Amino acid sequence: MKTIYFITGNKGKLSEVKEKLRSLDVTVIQEDLGYPEVQGDSLEEVAEYGVECIKKRFSHPFILEDAGLFIDALEGFPGVYSKYVFFTIGCKGILKLLEEKKRRTAVFRSVYAYSEPDKKPLFFIGECQGIIANKEKGGGGFGYDPIFIPNGETKTFAEMGIEEKNTFSHRGKAMDKLIDFLKEK
Ligand code: IMP
Repeated sequence: MKTIYFITGNKGKLSEVKEKLRSLDVTVIQEDLGYPEVQGDSLEEVAEYGVECIKKRFSHPFILEDAGLFIDALEGFPGVYSKYVFFTIGCKGILKLLEEKKRRTAVFRSVYAYSEPDKKPLFFIGECQGIIANKEKGGGGFGYDPIFIPNGETKTFAEMGIEEKNTFSHRGKAMDKLIDFLKEK
C-alpha cells in the first residue's frame, strides 16, 4: 500500500483525488499546510513556488495542485487569479462580466506537482474545454462548477457526481498522468 500526501485545504479537490485513486492501492492523506500563491504568469509557476515553500517544512514525498479557469472572451481571466476572483466576485460576478458576450468558450487547467526530497518536482497537466453557462446550475462540486459545462455535455460540473466530473475534468486528466507515473514507480 502506497501513501501519498496531498497538500491542500480544498475538500472538493481531496474528494476528487480520493475517488480517482479508489481502485489503486494508494492511501491519500490530506496535509492542510497552506502556502503562499505567488501571482505568476502560469499555473506551473504557482505550483513550483508552492513546492519550494512546502519542501522547507515537510520531509515526505507529496503532491499539490493548482488550477484555474481561463475564459476566452475575458482574455484568459480569471486564470491564475481564479481563487481570489472566486472569493471576491464569485460565479455571479463572472456571469455579469459575460452578460453582453456571445463567445462563452473557456478552459479549465490543472497542474499537479509531485515532489520528493532532493529532487526537482515533476508536473502533470490536464485541460478541459467547455463553455460558461448562462446561469448557475447544480448543487454539487465547488468553485466555478455551477457555471462550467464541459464540451459534449449539457450539464454543468455542479450537476455531476464526482466520478462523472472526473471523466471530463482538467484535474481528472492531470491525475491520470500522475497515476501512470505512480504505477511505474
Ligand atoms: P486553486 O488556486 O488551485 O486552489 O484554485 C483556484 C480556484 O479555481 C479555486 O478557488 C476554485 O474556485 C477554482 N477551481 C479550481 N478547480 C476547480 C474545479 O474543478 N471546479 C470549479 N472551480 C475550480
